[in-house]
Amino acid sequence: MKHFTNVHDLGDLKIALKEAFEVKKDRFAFRHLGHNRTLMMIFFNSSLRTRLSTQKAAMNLGMNVIVLDINQGAWKLETERGVIMDGDKPEHLLEAVPVMGCYCDIIGVRAFAQFENKQDDYEEKILNQFIQYSGRPVFSMEAATRHPLQSFADLITIEEYKKTERPKVVMTWAPHPRALPQAVPNSFAEWMNKTDYEFVITHPKGYELDPAFTGKARIEYDQRKAFEGADFIYAKNWSAYEEPNYGKVISTDRSWTVDTEKMKLTNQAYFLHCLPVRRNMIVTDDVIESSCSLVIPEAANREISAQVVLKRMLESL
Ligand code: CP
Repeated sequence: MKHFTNVHDLGDLKIALKEAFEVKKDRFAFRHLGHNRTLMMIFFNSSLRTRLSTQKAAMNLGMNVIVLDINQGAWKLETERGVIMDGDKPEHLLEAVPVMGCYCDIIGVRAFAQFENKQDDYEEKILNQFIQYSGRPVFSMEAATRHPLQSFADLITIEEYKKTERPKVVMTWAPHPRALPQAVPNSFAEWMNKTDYEFVITHPKGYELDPAFTGKARIEYDQRKAFEGADFIYAKNWSAYEEPNYGKVISTDRSWTVDTEKMKLTNQAYFLHCLPVRRNMIVTDDVIESSCSLVIPEAANREISAQVVLKRMLESL
């Protein structure tokens, strides 16, 4: 695998899942692959899980790891071509990216949507410049429109805990005080649409996602109706996608918070969230602390999803 930015790069999901469970059984079995290889992780945005799990995955594979936080200690980067650089950004991405490529074998990039220009965000301007100019295989550690390492970990977790062959998976919008990107819900929808699960998305009117991601999912505006008979509840906030509200918070309606009463409508569903989560906005304390909550095993599977991706990239070098 050369680059990893979306579900399609991974090919057959059944084969990828088999590989994930092999890696999980013995995560040090492939250490030889990373010998004398260096991973560079570039963060334009904050992270806890992605940073730690990807670094751990690389170390399991015997790699050296370099981490760079662009906004803490590195030069501020200009990303627009043609700009007269007389402002606060002393370096251009077009020099910085190939320089970074000189020091490593594989690059991971985290670069969220900036909500300044929808087209730039949905064209993945920053991630694609790394692919174009670094001269190295590149993988997404959450980009403007997708978070594929998270979605792969979500899928692994569902496969581990599902009680029926074709579970009903419901992704629900939930309130949040700040404007969050659509990357996690877009990506989760893209991955669920590659399975044969029953997949339902529920959100208030005005929070419709890009149909290119929601695809064949059933959209249900009544959250309680959507929860009926669900095997998994995947909660997430996202800001509006449709213009003129792109990147804006248009509701913080706390009647959408996932609580025990709503979970009772489900088929004893498990609760999933990618974390970090705002308690009592997205989900109540009692649900996230209950035995149905899988948020910790889900986060643990981030190490496995990252390791499968890095393993495949190392095998292709
Ligand atoms: N879920 C996730 O990507 O967590 P971080 O933002 O902490 O990396």
